[in-house]
Amino acid sequence: MTQDEMKKAVAEAAVEFVQGGWVVGVGTGSTANHFIDVLARMKGKIDGAVASSEASAERLRGHGIEVLDLNSTGPLPIYVDGADEATRHLHLTKGGGGALTREKIVAAASDQFVCVIDETKQVDYLGAFPLPVEVIPMARSHVARILAGMGGNPVLREGFRTDNGNVILDVHDLRIMNPVELESEIDHIAGVVSNGLFARRPADVLLVGTPSGVQTITG
Ligand code: 5RP
Repeated sequence: MTQDEMKKAVAEAAVEFVQGGWVVGVGTGSTANHFIDVLARMKGKIDGAVASSEASAERLRGHGIEVLDLNSTGPLPIYVDGADEATRHLHLTKGGGGALTREKIVAAASDQFVCVIDETKQVDYLGAFPLPVEVIPMARSHVARILAGMGGNPVLREGFRTDNGNVILDVHDLRIMNPVELESEIDHIAGVVSNGLFARRPADVLLVGTPSGVQTITG
């Protein structure tokens, strides 16, 4: 089974969590794209979606699913999104696609966060995948110096701007033993908008695609 087939399988499993009449929070990336394609089958039953990126909003609209503003929906019953790394504690690294800030907002506003990954994303400790940090452009060098002082190796994502007009520093060489603490510490650096650790608000359900089927891990 290919990695993409495992992503499709978890997308199919995730849609089982969605109920008619709901506004669905939708993430970003190739696994989230599969979820959007499967969700399209329910478009007459759901009340719409809140997207974590312009790319996902466009894909949702392409399927005829109404995209709503989070300010007009109130709390959401569910958020479905992928991740770049996940531990058995349901702590995640996200932001490979650069949408981490809006992803974190929609996850925070949702009652249940269903994270969909293939088995290659499962790790014992976060950090092998470079940690994305969204930064206000004028603070890029300042934030990079502080991240380097914390033992990381920040690399500017060249030629990339987030949907919010900011830059991303991908921080290599971190072995993250306490993701809750590190998430807060990085967020407190002046100029940081958010970072890709999802530990203070982890996933509630992790659906893992494997060659032998989809495994469900709950917190
Ligand atoms: C985007 C993300 C994605 O969820 C993450 O990068 C995983 O992507 P994919 O499903 O394509 O492997 O955080 O900002």
